[in-house]
Amino acid sequence: MRRIEWHTTIDSTMRRAAELADEGCEAGTIVAAEQQTAGVGRQGREWASAEGGLYFTVVLRPKLSVQELPMVTMALGLAVCDAVQLFGGVSCDLRWPNDVLVGDRKLAGILTQWRNGAVLAGIGVNVGQREFPAPLSAIATSLALETGSALESRALLSAIAASIDTHVRVLESRGTREILQLFSSASSYADGRRVTVDLPLGPVTGVTAGLTADGFLLVRKDDGEQIEVTAGGVRPHTEG
Ligand code: BTN
Repeated sequence: MRRIEWHTTIDSTMRRAAELADEGCEAGTIVAAEQQTAGVGRQGREWASAEGGLYFTVVLRPKLSVQELPMVTMALGLAVCDAVQLFGGVSCDLRWPNDVLVGDRKLAGILTQWRNGAVLAGIGVNVGQREFPAPLSAIATSLALETGSALESRALLSAIAASIDTHVRVLESRGTREILQLFSSASSYADGRRVTVDLPLGPVTGVTAGLTADGFLLVRKDDGEQIEVTAGGVRPHTEG
C-alpha cells in the first residue's frame, strides 16, 4: 500500500518529500497538497499554487544514475500525459523538457531533483481553476477549462501515480532509448518546430532537430549551427 501524505496547505511538497526521503521512506511515497504557500518551479521560479490545483511530490528510487535524470523527467511527462488522457479524455503535448501542454497552454509542470540516490518528482497540475491571474491567464489552462467539468484531484492523483510506476518501469527495463522514442512521438517540440531558446547569453532562434542519446534537445540555429540545449527555456517562436 502506497503512503500518501495529504495536506490542505503546505509550504512546498518538495521540502516535505525531501524530509521523508532523508528518513528513508519507501519508493512511491507521495506528499500531496491542495495548495502551497511556497511552491517552487524550475530555475528557482515560484510555482503559483492556489486552491484548485493538484500539487504533489513522489519519491522515486529508480535504478538509474544522476546522468539519467533528464530521462526520468521525460518519463514523468509521458506519465502525466497518459493519465490525463485516460482520466480526463484530454490530449496533451509535451514541451521539452518538462511542460505538459494542451495546445499552447500549460496544464502541468514537472520538477525533478536528485537527492542522495532518490529522485524527488514534483508535479503541479491545473485541475479546477476556472481563471488565472495575469500573466498566467495568457499561457495556462486547466482540466476544468478543457473539459467543462470538475474532476476529482485525489482520483487524478491515483491515475498519475499508477502511470508514473508504469513509465519508470519502462525506463528501468527497456532503457532510455524507449523513453526517447516515446517522448519524440508524443511531443510536437522534439523535431521540426521553430522555437526560441532562452540561453544565458541571450535568446537563440532555430528549428528543433531531435533529442540526443542523453535526452538533450538539438536546435539548428538560423545560421546553420546546431546546438545542444541542456536546460529548459524553450518557447514557440513568434515573428516580429
Ligand atoms: C515548472 O516550473 O514547470 C515545474 C513546476 C513544478 C511544481 C510542483 S507543484 C508540486 C511540487 N512542489 C513544489 O513546490 N513544486 C512542485
